[in-house]
Amino acid sequence: MDNQIIQPSILAQRIVLIILLSILIVAISILGIYWQRISDPYVREVLSLPGNPTRGNAIFQINCAGCHGLQADKNVGPSLQDISKRKSKVEIIYQVISGQTPPMPKFKPNSQEMADLLTYLEQL
Ligand code: HEC
Repeated sequence: MDNQIIQPSILAQRIVLIILLSILIVAISILGIYWQRISDPYVREVLSLPGNPTRGNAIFQINCAGCHGLQADKNVGPSLQDISKRKSKVEIIYQVISGQTPPMPKFKPNSQEMADLLTYLEQL
């Protein structure tokens, strides 16, 4: 009879094990998503190209300044000052091309334009 009751210490061990397993699963999923993103050919190409901040600024003024302000200092959209401290390059690329945070639309810059834009945003 006694054998069927789980000892408190074993129960605690199992809880710890379950928590550790959950953390592991979450970590693997995050890593998987990250890996999938950096192995995307478009992202790889953007990251491999040297960007021109002057051209990036021009692209920004045409496409983004209406919402983010002429100096990227916020309007309808948030300020993008210090964005490179808050977001990785890959995250910024996905912010621009995914359209997952309405009202910000989905953009389709070619890889050189995206590299220029990224260089401009990183020096803000
Ligand atoms: C129609 C308005 C609009 C336009 C145009 C727009 N954005 Fe945005 N953007 C937003 C809004 C609103 C957010 C906040 C979204 C959220 O996080 O919910 C945002 C968020 C962002 C962020 C993330 C900011 C952060 O602090 O995490 C980046 C980076 C960004 N925009 C870059 C751009 C770039 C680059 C362009 C031009 C190619 C652009 N946006 C064009 C409205 C816009």
